Amino acid sequence: MEASEVVKIFDTTLRDGEQSPGATMTIEEKLQVAEQLVTLRVDCIEAGFPAASPDDLAAVREIARRTKGVAVAALARATAGDIDAAWDAIREAERPVIHVFLATSDIHLQHKLNISREEALQRVKTMVARARAYCPTVEFSAEDATRSDRDFLCQVFDVAIKAGASIINVPDTVGYSTPGEYEALFHYVSAHVPGIEQVTLSAHCHDDLGMATANTLAAIRAGARQVEVTINGIGERAGNTALEEVVMALRTRPEAFGVETRVQAEQLLDASRVVSRVTGLPVQPNKAIVGLNAFAHEAGIHQDGVLKHALTYEIMTPQSVGWGDTNLVLGKHSGRHGLDARLRKLGYRLSAEQLKYAYKSFIAMAERQKTVVDHDLVYIAECMQETPSAV
Ligand code: KIV
Ligand code: ZN
Repeated sequence: MEASEVVKIFDTTLRDGEQSPGATMTIEEKLQVAEQLVTLRVDCIEAGFPAASPDDLAAVREIARRTKGVAVAALARATAGDIDAAWDAIREAERPVIHVFLATSDIHLQHKLNISREEALQRVKTMVARARAYCPTVEFSAEDATRSDRDFLCQVFDVAIKAGASIINVPDTVGYSTPGEYEALFHYVSAHVPGIEQVTLSAHCHDDLGMATANTLAAIRAGARQVEVTINGIGERAGNTALEEVVMALRTRPEAFGVETRVQAEQLLDASRVVSRVTGLPVQPNKAIVGLNAFAHEAGIHQDGVLKHALTYEIMTPQSVGWGDTNLVLGKHSGRHGLDARLRKLGYRLSAEQLKYAYKSFIAMAERQKTVVDHDLVYIAECMQETPSAV
């Protein structure tokens, strides 16, 4: 079988993820997350933004020193001070990356940076070259790329590549793009930037309209070979693309994408739990892959199907992402088959008559208390042993 191409996972949980309101982590907590990311086998950890504060610089430095077997990136604005701080923080990493960014949309150039397009081009040239003089790998990001003039964006990328950037990132900073537009932008950049075939194209999406994962996957179809993602999709405002969603989409639908990652998917749930614990940001129950209900079935028809053959309602196994068994939740939507299966697991084999009464009692209980736990089922089953209809 032909080995498919690899998409690199650039994890920015510790940088963009930490920018989620309330997600601040201590150095110890960041080290724990970094360790989990190594176990997960991401390709690059963006450890922070050293110019932001002395604490950030210290955390990035510690991660760069202690984390082995993975690239470690530090973010820098396109200024000499930021680039020097970034290098100071990551110089001891096995594979250091300086990640330089400058906004390229007119909205940002005029209202935030107050500089002309010409000045922006000059800044990119001198600052990427400065970073490259320190560090063998430099990534350049055009902040707000998706709202930038396309031809100007291509000019900026051309300058960045000539100055030494080997990774070119096309961020959808404000989560504005649609999958079709984002895919087309990658094709446009690939067709119009000289030397683009020599560098790695990267996708970085935010989830303001709930399209971050779809946009990231569209970029992969258009040739992106690095994706910037966070565990649980945490990040600025509505968050970034969720790592676990991209990894499992590529794995579950190989015919749609034809690429893979090096991620150990069985570690996804552990990674999710560590990040949730240290940031204090809970994972919504219906979150894809890592939410409590991601592999839970309550409706009777679904439970019956899953009991007959898991593929009826499960497109991946819970074990493949770190969960135990499928979770058949017993509630008022559950059917008799689901109840019988759970009672058998608990050691009770009821006759058809007993099961009929047990099911009645169970529905009455579920209506009173939303879900019925094993302890309640044991009570119902025990009553059936004495007199069916007695509960
Ligand atoms: O969203 C964004 O544009 C960023 C850049 C710094 C890459 O996070
Ligand atoms: Zn971002």
